[in-house]
Amino acid sequence: MYRGPALQPLEVAPRVMPSGTMPVKGGLPPMTREAMTVHLKSPLQPTPANLKHGEFLFMTDCAPCHGDNGRGKGPVAHLLRTPPADLAMGLSKALPDGYIYGTIRNGGIAMPPYYDIMSSHERWQVVLFVRHLQQQATQKTASK
Ligand code: HEC
Repeated sequence: MYRGPALQPLEVAPRVMPSGTMPVKGGLPPMTREAMTVHLKSPLQPTPANLKHGEFLFMTDCAPCHGDNGRGKGPVAHLLRTPPADLAMGLSKALPDGYIYGTIRNGGIAMPPYYDIMSSHERWQVVLFVRHLQQQATQKTASK
């Protein structure tokens, strides 16, 4: 019978994680929305490309509830027991970027979480587009 060499646990040093990376499984628990609100800053600039993809994602994933203009009156809003928040005016304008990002990732009270359906990059693009909707809504009211 062939006897292979006996391997002792940790005889070979575990692979060192490259800095700036995170384990996909195990490791740290996912961040709470509160933690994301406080700790995360957008790495993106509102370039035309970022805004364009943010708009595409918003129109596909958010507008059914929040409306094309973000005012909370999307085509399925009337079916929901809790009305979607107005993202373009009022309180939402004061929400930190990390809070909007965290709401997309983890969901709200009545809002569904998107988990990793969107990449981190895409979530920030949506945040940029929400800021854009807020600017548009503010300009509209100002010019009335
Ligand atoms: C199924 C309907 C639905 C969809 C789709 C949806 N939302 Fe919501 N959203 C809600 C509802 C309802 C609330 C208010 C209650 C709550 O906080 O859960 C809300 C709340 C929020 C809030 C929190 C506002 C506050 O003042 O706390 C943010 C930010 C938000 N949504 C952003 C988004 C973005 C961005 C998307 C797309 C990626 C999205 N939502 C998709 C229903 C939806």
